[in-house]
Amino acid sequence: MYASFLSIGAYVPKKCLTNNDLEKMVDTSDEWIVQRTGIKNRHIADDDEVTSDLAYKASEVAISRAGIKKEEIDVIICATISPDYLCMPSTACIIADKLGIKNIPAFDISAACSGFVYGLNMAKAFIESKIYKNILVIGAEKLSAITDYTDRGTCILFGDGAGAAIIGSTDDKSKSILDIHISSDGKYGDLLITPAGGVKNPSSLETVENRLSFMKMKGNDVFKIAVRTLTKDVKDILAKNSLTGDDIDLFIPHQANYRIIESVRNKLKFDPNKTVLTVQKYGNTSAASIPMAMNDWYEKGKLKNGNLMLLDTFGGGFTWGSGLVYFNGK
Ligand code: ACO
Repeated sequence: MYASFLSIGAYVPKKCLTNNDLEKMVDTSDEWIVQRTGIKNRHIADDDEVTSDLAYKASEVAISRAGIKKEEIDVIICATISPDYLCMPSTACIIADKLGIKNIPAFDISAACSGFVYGLNMAKAFIESKIYKNILVIGAEKLSAITDYTDRGTCILFGDGAGAAIIGSTDDKSKSILDIHISSDGKYGDLLITPAGGVKNPSSLETVENRLSFMKMKGNDVFKIAVRTLTKDVKDILAKNSLTGDDIDLFIPHQANYRIIESVRNKLKFDPNKTVLTVQKYGNTSAASIPMAMNDWYEKGKLKNGNLMLLDTFGGGFTWGSGLVYFNGK
């Protein structure tokens, strides 16, 4: 028995934050942002809309497209770095309650932008070891709540949104989640960090005044390691499975920066028409980025049953991962 990717869904908050809006908030320009990142717009959740709301809406779409009943879901995994609550309850438990599901395991994973691919790997392992049959894997973020809108180095990058998938099973390898590779290196933790709010630096008047509960990033250092790691990861997973770029129908990289994606794509000599790009309209939505990008192409009719997707991700931690996944949705 193999794990199988049965459906994709997403939710994008209505409100937009354009480069022109950001020009009024920090010392930046539309020209700089587009040239350095490719981003033109991001979507921002309402004040009363939290991560579990975005995730719940994306999940409803994924469940309906998979054609299963909510009661058939055996596990809920939510990847997020912007949970509704810092410690508990988990966002996955809140999503389960909103969906009206109980008495199943539900938990969050924290692997920054790589969270969705980490979640897929867990779902694959659960299914192939025959522990569970149907798993809801979600990547959901309200990054606007942990973004410092006085820091031009980060506030231009991030947006909100959610993507969700139902992972089930198949006995057909050509409809399966073929392979997933995930990894990390904690020595780079300081390059992308939210310094306060955890037990190391509990929130205090001082941490609030110094804006230490927001994401801090040494962008240029992250950029270089991201390009190197994303490229190597793809080469490794293709070689391990005796495949080449020509065997791939869609390359779906983490949507952090157009220049990173282009650099990786050029090194791998992938066809631009097969490379999914949504960073220009959603910005970087961390764990939600890959499922939102996937959903975008699904809704445009460009992701079809039997297509082989190559996923490639990189994020804080550092964490990274890649996946070879046949789409088995309708
Ligand atoms: N507008 C205008 N100027 C700016 C802005 C801005 N928004 N931001 C920075 N600058 C300035 C800097 O101050 C600097 O000026 P200086 O030379 O006078 O000091 C100059 O532009 C160059 O700054 P760099 O940081 O070197 O710019 P870079 O080309 O690296 O672009 C960016 C910055 C867009 C952040 C890029 O480094 C990047 O995308 N990094 C990777 C992000 C990423 O992939 N993160 C991982 C995933 S995220 C996650 O896990 C949550």
